[in-house]
Amino acid sequence: MKNINVALLGFGTVGSGVAEAIRKNSRIMEDSIGCHFTISHVLVRHPEKYRDMDLLQGIHLTSSFDDIIADSSIDIIIEVMGGIHPAKEYIFEALNHHINVVSANKDLVALFGPEIMHTAMENHVNFSCEASVGGGIPILRPLHDSLAANEIESIVGIVNGTTNFILSNMDDSGVSYGDALRVAQKKGYAEADPTNDVAGYDAARKLAILASIGFHANVTFDDVLVEGIEKISQNDVQYASEMGYTIKLLAVAIRQENGIALNVYPAFVPRSHPLASVKGSYNAIYVTGNIVDDVMFYGKGAGSLPTASAVMGDVISTAKHILNHSTGTGMMLTETKRIPFYSSL
Ligand code: NDP
Ligand code: HSE
Repeated sequence: MKNINVALLGFGTVGSGVAEAIRKNSRIMEDSIGCHFTISHVLVRHPEKYRDMDLLQGIHLTSSFDDIIADSSIDIIIEVMGGIHPAKEYIFEALNHHINVVSANKDLVALFGPEIMHTAMENHVNFSCEASVGGGIPILRPLHDSLAANEIESIVGIVNGTTNFILSNMDDSGVSYGDALRVAQKKGYAEADPTNDVAGYDAARKLAILASIGFHANVTFDDVLVEGIEKISQNDVQYASEMGYTIKLLAVAIRQENGIALNVYPAFVPRSHPLASVKGSYNAIYVTGNIVDDVMFYGKGAGSLPTASAVMGDVISTAKHILNHSTGTGMMLTETKRIPFYSSL
């Protein structure tokens, strides 16, 4: 059976989830595509923190990316370290060395997605990033492939688990904004700097990725008008509830006559709408196409194994290309066009 060697850049929540997923489901993956996955290298900043981990036994643990790029046996690099630098440089270096890359890094893809895809295409390798939006929810590939026959009219998502957890808890249990945020941080949903979550930046990055794919356009974070949930009080939540609404942080992209309106904002959602029942750290993306009508994608928007599921989906898809000796371009269009955006409702 063919072996596919992967290297992991990062071994935190998602990286360790990928290792666990491979260990847990290696038989299923082998049966599914007829190859075996081996993690040959893991890159971290502080190897000493990781040395005794059971999941890392027999794996080359390093803090030097040169060790990885110099090893010609590596088929796929999985970037799950996060941040812009040095993740960006490592990804470009890998692609320019004709190595396929899978990434969960929404910050990076929201800023440099088209450039990365272009480099992947030039080098005849794959770049894919399903886990960058919606954690374990399959959304980017379905949007790109399964819904390709549609003109997408709108994408409305609850794409940040932290803010959804805060708002749901304020609504259901009457807890204060501050207390709910502290629990979200404790549960590991929030970013290292939770401002990215509560100010709506994380949702805006994910919306930029969704809109780039859904509207075949080059959308970046800067195109999105963002308002966060920092000013939402218990009074607002109660008032919404009395009126038959629940407050959700929505990421909204709507096709309009002269462009795409791109907004992230806290909205009153009628309790009868499917998005109103999305609670806790769950995410959902509600897509309307001119043929399919409405479809909703729902599931765990973060967490070790759910996110690893999306990462491994990309890895398996890439492995199929390798086994078929074909090259793809991942799931994002490289020749995106710039279309007018305006950030208002
Ligand atoms: P963590 O903070 O848990 O882990 C980061 C890992 O990367 C650590 O092992 C860290 O090593 C390593 N790392 C960070 N910087 C460097 C560097 N400069 N050089 C080498 N190693 C480095 O992050 P997560 O696993 O939570 O997130 C990873 C990525 O996945 C991010 O892009 C995130 O946005 C994305 N993502 C995360 C989700 C989640 O649920 N957590 C969901 C969807 C996407 P060390 O400990 O030695 O510093
Ligand atoms: N901080 C992010 C969230 C993690 O709360 O959704 C997953 O991207």
